[in-house]
Amino acid sequence: MNTSSQTNSTRKKITTRTFLQKKQRGEPITMLTAYDYPTALAVDKAGVDSILVGDSLGMVVLGYENTLPVTMGDMLHHCKAVSRGAKYPLLIGDMPFMSYQSSVNKAVDNAGRFLQEAGMDAVKLEGGRERAKAIEKMVLAGIPVMGHLGLTPQSVNTFGGFRAQGKTASAAKKLLEDALILQDAGVFGIVLEAVPAQLAELISRKLDIPTIGIGAGIDCDGQVLVIHDLIGQFDRFVPSFVKQYAQIHNIVLDALETYDADVRQGHFPTSEHSLYMKDEEWLAFLAEMDGGLNE
Ligand code: KIV
Repeated sequence: MNTSSQTNSTRKKITTRTFLQKKQRGEPITMLTAYDYPTALAVDKAGVDSILVGDSLGMVVLGYENTLPVTMGDMLHHCKAVSRGAKYPLLIGDMPFMSYQSSVNKAVDNAGRFLQEAGMDAVKLEGGRERAKAIEKMVLAGIPVMGHLGLTPQSVNTFGGFRAQGKTASAAKKLLEDALILQDAGVFGIVLEAVPAQLAELISRKLDIPTIGIGAGIDCDGQVLVIHDLIGQFDRFVPSFVKQYAQIHNIVLDALETYDADVRQGHFPTSEHSLYMKDEEWLAFLAEMDGGLNE
């Protein structure tokens, strides 16, 4: 169901400018991850403002323990599929581990590939002040950039696990400083992941650009969730900040078990799922076979 106020005929492509206008009007921004064509079609149809092709792809689609093994090749492949399915949402490609950390030039070149080859409108990268130079160069090159602070999953080994961030006074101060530095560097928005709600509220208030929260409370300017968590397709674990709106895993499992049983018991396919030759063609075929056999 598309509950957004615009019908398809009046819908306009969401841009980074729309993000800013929504913040200024106090209208929440909606964002979901997607990694393939049919999901992109559904997210677009639902009226969601933005799709993040997240490197969470590595965990929920490719079966890795964390996001570190995800490559540029993986990301571009999935971004291309999403861009073929989604017309209206702002499309953001997530830069994978080691595609932007080692040098500014490499970062800009890789960021450009998301727009030039994969149909994305913008890129996202993780980290604070240490990313400012790369972000400035990307923005100068015409690449819109979204920041990501708090629990930045590519730093899982530095954090010693997937842990909430910004929980002490000094960590909160650094997070706020980083947010302001990213804004000065030119990002059009910042994802705040797994940070205390009071801190996310304060950062959102201090910034002119929108914050998009995941596990960061109600007062961010928008919200994002990993779609597999939201629809209950990923059953290995569900983060505490996720609200599951469906239990797709159970529905799929039920369908697969029923199919398996149907085939084993001869209940599928029935005549309804089969196709037949016309009688005259079949009889002609049998006659020809008989002739052939008698030769
Ligand atoms: O990779 C991802 O899906 C993300 C979101 C959790 C923000 O970075």
